[in-house]
Amino acid sequence: MALSKLLNCSHELRTPMTAIKGYSDLLLAGTAGTLNDMQLTFLKTISANVGRMATLVSDLSDISRIEAGRLKLEFEALSIADVVDDIVRSSRQQIEARKQRVGVEIAENLLPVWGDRNRISQVLSSLLSNAYKYSSEGGEITIRVKNGLASDGNSAEAHLEIQDTGVGIHPEDREKVFEKFFRAKDGAVRDETGGGLGLSIAKNLVEMQGGRISFESKVGKGTTFYVTFPLASDE
Ligand SMILES: Nc1ncnc2c1ncn2[C@@H]1O[C@H](COP(=O)(O)OP(=O)(O)OP(=O)(O)O)[C@@H](O)[C@H]1O
Ligand SMILES: [Mg+2]
Repeated sequence: MALSKLLNCSHELRTPMTAIKGYSDLLLAGTAGTLNDMQLTFLKTISANVGRMATLVSDLSDISRIEAGRLKLEFEALSIADVVDDIVRSSRQQIEARKQRVGVEIAENLLPVWGDRNRISQVLSSLLSNAYKYSSEGGEITIRVKNGLASDGNSAEAHLEIQDTGVGIHPEDREKVFEKFFRAKDGAVRDETGGGLGLSIAKNLVEMQGGRISFESKVGKGTTFYVTFPLASDE
């Protein structure tokens, strides 16, 4: 499908979704009167599902833009620690509802990164959601940020790790997880929602910002994703 048609179509989808989400939120806030428990439960389901649709539409439009070379980034010097804090704060409820824990280890004297704040936030949020979705109750997630050495062995860069104690990634799926629409056949993965776009978008966004993404994983033990971002001082 031509990009302009696809983007127009996703805009057409977004408008009704925004209305459903907006009115659900008003009802949830009690604007139209007090709700009983069953109404509240139903409404929360509506709200969560329209949220899922909105994410899918936005992911589809991102991947089309990326493939057409039409995704624009807005670079600035930023603190990756702030981005991590925001993402952890907004995901904490979902993580705790799954009886999992998340810990953050931020090194002192972190140097500012040169990147697009919203897009770095999108990458982290995608990696963090994978970490909790593909882990069972009691799972532990650790996010680490530190200054590291670039692959040339001379210059510095920011190193970020997201470690989980989840289901792990099969060696035979190693190359596939970054492909769009790929999802493992594992039952634990199928039980979770997802369009299989998160990692493919994340890899593109990281590389467009001059960084790298990789992972280590052991089936049944867990996975650690590694992401690097260039420092602002190199610009
Ligand atoms: N931390 C992880 N632990 C185990 N498997 C993972 C992990 N992260 C990704 N995967 C595997 O890689 C697949 C692709 O991940 P990706 O984030 O691209 O898609 P998704 O999570 O299925 O859907 P979406 O992110 O679009 O909502 C997942 O379906 C899962 O099989
Ligand atoms: Mg995902």
